[in-house]
Amino acid sequence: MEKDGGDRDNAALVTLIVMLLIMAMGVSSASSASAAAASSQLRRNLLANGLGLTPPMGWNSWNHFHCKIDEKVIKATADALVSTGLSKLGYTYVNIDDCWAEISRDHEGNLAPNKATFPSGIKALADYVHSKGLKLGIYADAGYFTCSKTMPGSLGHEEQDAKTFAAWGIDYLKYDNCYNDESKPTVRFPVMTRALMKAGRPIFYSLCEWGEMHPATWGANVGNSWRTTGDISDTWESMVSRADMNEVYAEFARPGGWNDPDMLEVGNGGMTKNEYIVHFSMWAISKAPLLLGCNVGNITKETMEIIANKEVISVNQDPLGVQAKKVRLQGNREVWAGPLSGYRVALLLVNRSRKRVSFTAHWDDIGIPANSVVEARDLWEHKTLKARFVGNLTATLDSHACKMYVLKPVG
Ligand SMILES: *[C@@H]1O[C@H](CO)[C@@H](O)[C@H](O)[C@H]1NC(C)=O
Ligand SMILES: *[C@@H]1O[C@H](CO)[C@@H](O)[C@H](O)[C@H]1NC(C)=O
Ligand SMILES: *[C@@H]1O[C@H](CO)[C@@H](O)[C@H](O)[C@H]1NC(C)=O
Repeated sequence: MEKDGGDRDNAALVTLIVMLLIMAMGVSSASSASAAAASSQLRRNLLANGLGLTPPMGWNSWNHFHCKIDEKVIKATADALVSTGLSKLGYTYVNIDDCWAEISRDHEGNLAPNKATFPSGIKALADYVHSKGLKLGIYADAGYFTCSKTMPGSLGHEEQDAKTFAAWGIDYLKYDNCYNDESKPTVRFPVMTRALMKAGRPIFYSLCEWGEMHPATWGANVGNSWRTTGDISDTWESMVSRADMNEVYAEFARPGGWNDPDMLEVGNGGMTKNEYIVHFSMWAISKAPLLLGCNVGNITKETMEIIANKEVISVNQDPLGVQAKKVRLQGNREVWAGPLSGYRVALLLVNRSRKRVSFTAHWDDIGIPANSVVEARDLWEHKTLKARFVGNLTATLDSHACKMYVLKPVG
């Protein structure tokens, strides 16, 4: 009896704690004062690095170079981000992915840069990247090995590795999930959070848990972004499926913590220009990290036109930090919309079909009062439409094409 009652009390307590945690993690947007207090306390205890107030922008080595990286590629990319003007648009993180270290730790147990490919060491590289006004990101893994299995993981070495990264001047850590000990990511990933906090240097912490345990529901107190999906590949199907999986968690994105549908493939050659425009538009309106995945060293004019679209970038970087949602689906026609600062709305119409049709976005779907007169700025045509719109806006799009607008009520 006694024991049963105790168990029931424990169960009730656990339920209460779980509910509080869920509230604190922002499931309930109408959060009570106590949930807000619990949330800020959690953030103090775990992640309080003040980073990622808007989605991070930059480049990552993986999508184009995979394991074929060295310090020359990283430096050339930093140079190219500056010479192309991309860094001025906000692309400032230069992120090294897997394959930068020796397979064994050094005699003091530290991660050791690969002697053949990174002979000058990571500290020198960070100094170089910083001298260009950019930031350096690195990659590690919450397991025994990284995914390439060419370097050790950080499981059990979190504090030591976080200290190493901080000492080198690292600004961003992508933390992967391969070869782990099968303990839960909700256990393994916060160990690195605490280690980074303890190491003392603000380092953007990107959880690469692949979306398996729904990190959107717990990531905000652990990292600055969390992957909601497995790896992207350079195809239309892969790209739109990442966008779809990521959209489900829109409510969880906020300044300081973002859903991450993986890095950009724009410029890698597997999609058409229109498809890459859809890709970039979906990532931008979804408040996804804008991490280029192409070779910035030989970028084409066509790719530049897409990734250097300031108007689309400013939707992504809007200070309100609200991720857009799909507000209407009609077969293969999709309407995505989300609020922007200044009572504006970002609108994306996507034609996922192979046929040409026209479709209409209705004010009541996108959160604009029914009678509002709206001015529409076309972000890919760089034109403010002459017509004013009331109640709806209609467009006709080619197959796998999109239209992206900022709507501004004017009366
Ligand atoms: C850029 O260089 C890469 C090799 O790193 C090559 O695969 C690609 O085709 C080149 N792209 C262009 C547009 O020249
Ligand atoms: C989608 O593209 C196809 C093929 O070009 C076209 O027939 C259809 O009208 C387009 N749909 C929309 C909504 O514009
Ligand atoms: C769009 O709104 C106009 C009024 O501004 C209305 O006449 C028209 O029927 C609407 N179109 C659709 C497709 O709802």
